[in-house]
Amino acid sequence: MKKVVVSAPGKLHLSGEHAVVYGEPAVLASISKRLYVTLEGVNSQDTAETSWDKIKNDSEYAAKIVRLFKKSHPIDLSRVKCKIASDIPAGAGLGSSAALAVALIAALSQWIGLPWDVARINELAYKAEQFQHGNPSGGDNTVVTYGGILWYRKELDFLKTFWLLSIKIPRSFPVFLLVNTGRAETTKELVEYVAKLQKKNRPVFALLLAEMENITRTMVRAIHDENEAALLSAIQKNQQLLERMGVVSVATKELLNKIESLGGAAKISGAGGRKVGSGVIWIASRHKQTITDLLKNYQFLPFEVQLGGEGVRREQIVL
Ligand code: PMV
Repeated sequence: MKKVVVSAPGKLHLSGEHAVVYGEPAVLASISKRLYVTLEGVNSQDTAETSWDKIKNDSEYAAKIVRLFKKSHPIDLSRVKCKIASDIPAGAGLGSSAALAVALIAALSQWIGLPWDVARINELAYKAEQFQHGNPSGGDNTVVTYGGILWYRKELDFLKTFWLLSIKIPRSFPVFLLVNTGRAETTKELVEYVAKLQKKNRPVFALLLAEMENITRTMVRAIHDENEAALLSAIQKNQQLLERMGVVSVATKELLNKIESLGGAAKISGAGGRKVGSGVIWIASRHKQTITDLLKNYQFLPFEVQLGGEGVRREQIVL
């Protein structure tokens, strides 16, 4: 029986989120949590329809992605069942929606026998992300497609540049923990919030962007030079800039202050969140147990990920 299984990783914004929407650079890394799309031929039409109905119910976005794909590639899915499985926490700033767009488009492309062309998959995934998020930078879908640690910049809507950095996270660095604080807003809402801030005071916002660019450079240099102190300071400064952009909730700020007082450095990663939580927090600390105990008080369970692994990948193809 015909079968296609494709996976794509989630991502972590190391620096430059939000600023990247305005043409500043961002550094993003793929993470070792992945989303899997399985397409399989069926004998009975019922099973296929049920699986697509379930997908439509579970994820409106998946249905939109399929519609978008169908616009450029006629495909008959009446005898194809689809399953989506993911270990990327959803709506947390870890790229779950980009992973869905990239993996689903890649799987559908393989199903109809298109050549494995990651640039094309990425471009179509960007269109899907535009559909979902309004004005995305395209950084998420690009790092999810290519994997690794990426220097990304959207110069113009039709000119997006990126550089796969040859740096690795040094073994000598402190442990990195991620924790999902949840969030009430969508990426679109948070990007729109920042856009209003820009319109209110363009000169101040321009300064913020310049500072963010500086920190993004500093962070890459710190990783390249294996300079732990510089990395920790860049994480903290990045966090301060995101707070000035207004995308960090009061509760998250308090938590981050506590982490800092325990000798760690931490920042939100991705769009953030203003009302309750602020999505995922990236923590660098030499005191893993102390931080874990602190987070337990908030009913948060931290987890570790490897950064910079493979991007979109064919897991199984039976044609
Ligand atoms: O929270 P996420 O994973 O949706 O990340 C969004 C990153 C932003 O820079 C805020 C938006 C973008 O399109 O780059």
